[in-house]
Amino acid sequence: MKFFLDTANVNEIRQALEMGLVDGVTTNPSLLAKEKRDPQDTIREVLALVEGPVSLEVLATDTEGMIGEARKLASLGSNVVVKIPMTEDGMKAVRTLAGEGIRTNVTLVFQPVQALIAAKAGADYVSPFIGRLDDISTRGMNIIEEIIAIYTNYGFDTEIIVASVRNPMHVLEAALLGADIATIPFGVIKQLVNHPLTDVGIERFLKDYEGLKK
Ligand code: E4P
Repeated sequence: MKFFLDTANVNEIRQALEMGLVDGVTTNPSLLAKEKRDPQDTIREVLALVEGPVSLEVLATDTEGMIGEARKLASLGSNVVVKIPMTEDGMKAVRTLAGEGIRTNVTLVFQPVQALIAAKAGADYVSPFIGRLDDISTRGMNIIEEIIAIYTNYGFDTEIIVASVRNPMHVLEAALLGADIATIPFGVIKQLVNHPLTDVGIERFLKDYEGLKK
């Protein structure tokens, strides 16, 4: 299972890189805005740090606008994946971009047939937002299970990025289902690594060893 970091914060990326937990990065306009600096500078730095796929989202909502932005974004680096929203215009853009060899990640997917449509359009990645479904009392992880079943049925190569991850249980469930990728906020990565019993265990081992010296 690949871990992508869901952030536009370069310090978080650096820390997760040191832990060997950055197979790729996903950003979105909200994450870039959160950094309160020129998004172009952020994008440049992220691309210099990360070897794996980096998803950068278009702002246009019409097909021509999306295609134009996607071409510019793709020219920034060979690891750029262009995030395109799951709309009719978006699917037309994905089809054209796939023909040009520009990789796409179809974002804002909330039901399994949207993921089927994205795959048919030629998307390389699809991002179902499970946390936002959980937020409205709909079990987000159900759609991951269904998308996996659909892609398996028809042999699609489109990779599933479990997105809008909010807690360690989301990562556990995604892994149990065999999802290709989870894109995870840095705070959740830290929660995944730490366990209170690990801390207590270290403390006890050190205390016992200290006792030997007395
Ligand atoms: C994924 O590609 C999105 O950037 C992200 O996971 C959205 O997460 P949110 O619902 O917590 O904003």
